[in-house]
Amino acid sequence: MSQAKKEYKRVTTKSLVDMKSAGEKISMLTAYDYTLAKMVDGAGIDVILVGDSASNVMAGHETTLPITLDQMIYHASSVVKAIERALVVVDLPFGTYQSDPKEALRSAIRIMKESGAHAVKVEGGKEVKESIKRILNAGIPVMGHLGLTPQSIYKFGTYTVRAKEEQEAERLREDAKLLEKIGCFGIVLEKIPAQLAKEVAESVSIPVIGIGAGKHVDGQVLVLHDMLGMTHEFNPRFLRRYLNLYEEITEAISQYISDVKSVNFPSESEQY
Ligand code: KIV
Repeated sequence: MSQAKKEYKRVTTKSLVDMKSAGEKISMLTAYDYTLAKMVDGAGIDVILVGDSASNVMAGHETTLPITLDQMIYHASSVVKAIERALVVVDLPFGTYQSDPKEALRSAIRIMKESGAHAVKVEGGKEVKESIKRILNAGIPVMGHLGLTPQSIYKFGTYTVRAKEEQEAERLREDAKLLEKIGCFGIVLEKIPAQLAKEVAESVSIPVIGIGAGKHVDGQVLVLHDMLGMTHEFNPRFLRRYLNLYEEITEAISQYISDVKSVNFPSESEQY
């Protein structure tokens, strides 16, 4: 007999742990603005990530490195205004938490106070442990992010699958255990072998959300603009496109231009 799923009026960090215990998969998508966040929340998503992928998707930068704390707060506060149910997690952008734990805490406090978000996400394990602990000590929930960590792209040199070699896989296992031990409420695993992701998800009690990490994790996250097909140049194997909005939007705009030029718009009924 299938068990009825628990209804969450508001998703909290505790709900996510409960979902993992109950074997309910967690759904997570990015959003960076009010209008799309309203649709994502209304559809019933569990977690909205105001990702620093806004640097690529919204600002057109090649990497996530240039986006600033002020810009992340702007995106996050627009998203928070739209939300009735989802948990809102915001990426701490590059350069706002790596150099010292006090600065990390100041950055996290600004996000929480100025945007109204519910948690922050930080890339890395052992090397940012002190920063994460400082943020957690102030009562701010932290989500970790291991595997392909785009803020370190210049160290990796490529966006290929991470942790294929045993040494890097072992380091990732240790980092995941460390993040659990110091009190993170969840971990994103990006672009690693599915078998390793499965092992990690089974080895920790906190939810593990995958992107390009296979199905044996506790939930999935995608970049909204990618899964809606608004972007079309980024085609990793893990990306499932649910729409082709790039084509649909371009066609609609072409039609509008043609209607304006031919005075087919506005019609009698579209004027006063
Ligand atoms: O910034 C982002 O969108 C992310 C996801 C890819 C997990 O970190």
